Amino acid sequence: MAKKIAIASGKGGVGKSSLTVGIGKALAARGKKVLLIDCDCLKSIDLLTGITEFLLYNWGDVVKNRCDSENALYDAGDVKVITCPDSYEDITPEEMKELIKSYEESFDYILLDSPAGIDKGLTLACSVADRGLVVSTPDLVCVRSACIAARQMEKLGVTDTRLIINRVKKRDVTKGRLLNVDSVIDSTEIQLIGVVPEDAKIRLGSMGQDIYKKGQVSYKAFCNIAGRIEGETVTLKL
Ligand SMILES: Nc1ncnc2c1ncn2[C@@H]1O[C@H](COP(=O)(O)OP(=O)(O)OP(=O)(O)O)[C@@H](O)[C@H]1O
Ligand SMILES: [Mg+2]
Repeated sequence: MAKKIAIASGKGGVGKSSLTVGIGKALAARGKKVLLIDCDCLKSIDLLTGITEFLLYNWGDVVKNRCDSENALYDAGDVKVITCPDSYEDITPEEMKELIKSYEESFDYILLDSPAGIDKGLTLACSVADRGLVVSTPDLVCVRSACIAARQMEKLGVTDTRLIINRVKKRDVTKGRLLNVDSVIDSTEIQLIGVVPEDAKIRLGSMGQDIYKKGQVSYKAFCNIAGRIEGETVTLKL
């Protein structure tokens, strides 16, 4: 049975979708069967995994019986992907639970890329998640909103949450232009699971380049997070 992990944040644009793909691919590199589900109607995962041109169905079509669960599943090399409908206005948490039942026996991990904020998309992702990853960049505005998102996830029943601090730039931290890791952990009071450095090449992912591989600045961070998700003790080196 798959472990289901919702990736969330308060503010938008902090790196949820990029990290969903990076962590998913790092788990796949460990031999795990990984499904990425885009739970954000603004949709990013298909672009970041290079499957956009093949898309016909999304998980909304499965929920509304317009196709079989297999039809909405797309092969993105080492991971599978299901994309989001344009709107989830009339989709209920119960329908979401039914949807996940069709996939959870076939995968080790299902990563649910949530939209920013604490609205319907997060509610749907949390209705099926047994764990949460809250992403924040190291600045006060994002940190505060990450706390609010984590509290909302707890209200929605996802109490096992971990923090990922993304876009850490050592030089800016040293110069006091970004918060240091300890301050972010203290402010959020969420247990840390990983720190991802600023990596200029991450944005090339949306241009169809496979940037989630060895030699990439952020790749080690994704592998470390994957190891910790699997329960290993991986030392954090900043
Ligand atoms: N570690 C990083 N280093 C450099 N750029 C990054 C990093 N992580 C993400 N980005 C860039 O930040 C931008 C936003 O990333 P992404 O779309 O993954 O965020 P998001 O939280 O999913 O956004 P949204 O809330 O809109 O869904 C993208 O241009 C991406 O390439
Ligand atoms: Mg996103």
